[in-house]
Amino acid sequence: MKSYDIAVIGGDGTGPEVVQEAIKVLEAATRKFSFRLNYTHYDFGGARYLRTHEVLPDSAAAELRKFPAILLGAIGHPEVKPGILEKGILLRLRFELEQYINLRPVKLYDERFCPLKDKKPADVDFVVVRENNEGLYTGAGGFVFKGTANEVAVQESINTRRGVERCLRYAFEYTRRRNKAKKLTLSGKTNVLTYAFDLWERAFHEVGARDYPDITRDYAHVDATTMWFVKNPEWFDVIVTDNMFGDIITDLGAMIQGGMGIAAGGNINPAGTSMFEPIGGSAPKYTGQGVINPLAAICAGQLMLDFLGERTAAEAIETAVIGVVRQKLKSLAAGKMGYSTTQVGDLVAAAL
Ligand code: IPM
Ligand code: MN
Repeated sequence: MKSYDIAVIGGDGTGPEVVQEAIKVLEAATRKFSFRLNYTHYDFGGARYLRTHEVLPDSAAAELRKFPAILLGAIGHPEVKPGILEKGILLRLRFELEQYINLRPVKLYDERFCPLKDKKPADVDFVVVRENNEGLYTGAGGFVFKGTANEVAVQESINTRRGVERCLRYAFEYTRRRNKAKKLTLSGKTNVLTYAFDLWERAFHEVGARDYPDITRDYAHVDATTMWFVKNPEWFDVIVTDNMFGDIITDLGAMIQGGMGIAAGGNINPAGTSMFEPIGGSAPKYTGQGVINPLAAICAGQLMLDFLGERTAAEAIETAVIGVVRQKLKSLAAGKMGYSTTQVGDLVAAAL
């Protein structure tokens, strides 16, 4: 029987609660589809940091590299200054494990939960491939004359041909495998960011023309992209973009698919250790109340199984989630689902 070692980081806030439901559903999938998942839990997060004053042990990345996949709940603690845990755990793991893709599907499961008028599930079904190791996120830059009237702050966007090209190639391959409209849209800002997106645009057309003639190439400025998300989301199949723009447009993407309760993503190193997470954050005000929606974490588990090659099991989880969303839930928002966190996990596991 196939067996996979999974590292689990429940993390902060509601992270551990939703990860528990994801594991419940994953376990149901292993029974039905005859494979095994072995979990090793790590306590990285705000509570550990407050106790030990260490954000992440230096050995963490080396240890996590032994796993094909990590399931992550949430990082972010109200008693820790913003940035410390996000940069010290989440971004550090994304970088050190070279998870250079952030894959964020935007798929509406039930029109009742779409804030856009007259949009149906068939209209909101696309995937954002966000570059995850470069751009404005590398920390390049600095201050000059900090704290004085002459202060200068520089934050540089790093775009390497190698980094951009591997992201584009992943996006082209993904569009091909997805096999829907076979259209890849580069979302950028070629009219202003005339260096960074010049490189992106040239690489996009060179790689596309040479190796992916079957994929239609399209371009949209990032500001216009947000407009189309609201007006014509059905125009998109797969979108590829840089780290910062990808961060911004995927929050909007999450809202049009029904909110943070359902949105999941994968930080992917196609040849290494990938990390799957609900993208909604730690939601401290809902911690421990059993009201948070676990579906985003369950969908993160689905993405993880797909990455591991357990495609049938992944599809079965999605089908189960769709059934529960359509037939049971009153809302996808915390506290309004009509069920508790564990009951939603039970419903999906039973639907499997
Ligand atoms: C996300 C988050 C992170 C990001 C933060 C928490 C560092 O917003 O995963 O989208 O900006 O990438
Ligand atoms: Mn974000």
